[in-house]
Amino acid sequence: MIDLRSDTVTKPSDKMRAAMANAEVGDDVYGEDPTMNRLQERAAEIFEKEAALFVPSGTMGNQIAVKLHTQPGQDVIIEERGHILNYEVGSSAIFAGVTIRPVKSVDGSGILTWDEIATVLNTDGVYDHNQTGLLCLENTHNLAGGRVMSADHCADLCEKAHAAGLPVHMDGARIFNATVVTNSSVAELTRHCDSIQFCLSKGLGAPVGSILVGSKDFIREALIWRKRFGGGMRQAGILAAAGLIALEESPKRLHEDHELAHHLAIGIAGIPGIAINVETVETNIVIFDIAATGKTTKGICASLKENGVLASEFGTRMRMVTHCDVSLKDIETTIEAMGSILDSRSA
Ligand SMILES: Cc1ncc(COP(=O)(O)O)c(C=O)c1O
Repeated sequence: MIDLRSDTVTKPSDKMRAAMANAEVGDDVYGEDPTMNRLQERAAEIFEKEAALFVPSGTMGNQIAVKLHTQPGQDVIIEERGHILNYEVGSSAIFAGVTIRPVKSVDGSGILTWDEIATVLNTDGVYDHNQTGLLCLENTHNLAGGRVMSADHCADLCEKAHAAGLPVHMDGARIFNATVVTNSSVAELTRHCDSIQFCLSKGLGAPVGSILVGSKDFIREALIWRKRFGGGMRQAGILAAAGLIALEESPKRLHEDHELAHHLAIGIAGIPGIAINVETVETNIVIFDIAATGKTTKGICASLKENGVLASEFGTRMRMVTHCDVSLKDIETTIEAMGSILDSRSA
């Protein structure tokens, strides 16, 4: 199967498996796992922040941040297709007791402007108004098709949010993909964010894990909340060993995933009925609309599966994601399969 449903489907490389088998470990709840400590120190160093904490999932990293930055009853501003709102199954309401305040990014990029944010911002302190407690950003923006926020834009939003008394959390599940497009380091892309969550288990190819990065005080509190959320793990160095390889080596090859995604986008753009703007395919995510083909996403995905290709569907839109286990040949097979499934002469 050519699995394009997500970049989470990658299998650990032989090098990762060997490192996991040989990892030096200890009890990480005691802070005694040397491999885990090395991974966390390295992540903090790369992001040029004071400290970092391994968490089992991106969702847990985001939710610890939402919890720590807010008070129950506050609003969290987020772009309307953001992961924290749509795919974290209401966790922010349950654990932090906050209301998510979605904002539409009018140009469709998923990258909010300050003017858009300002329409829902409320820090007036009047007791019977919802008060804004946090701004959450997402780079790259998954459901907007892997779109990228520049370091300057992020710095500008952070400056304005801070001036309004708001902390900023970055859901940087795929922040390393953004570095390829912007030629900026992850440190530059997140310089003014108060916390960042990034995933080792997406484009970076590790089997499990994300990392939360921030100040020493923030991470000290995050450690307590990770334990409360059931995320305190013991010989977690087994996972950190793969994470270290993902962190050090995988960013160097992400441009290959982007080239494949671009190739895929160009290939399917020529198929009648597929709506896609190839220029907006900046990273490893290809989202397109099939409404005009007269077929359903369910039907197309089922036919693709028969041809050995897996894709995701959302309403009339489909998503294909490239990653380290996808080759140019796989992409060509996919384009060919899409062409034959959507050939107007076929039933
Ligand atoms: C943008 C974004 N943030 C957060 C997450 C959550 O990561 P996890 O699946 O590890 O909880 C994902 C996962 O798909 C994501 O795409």
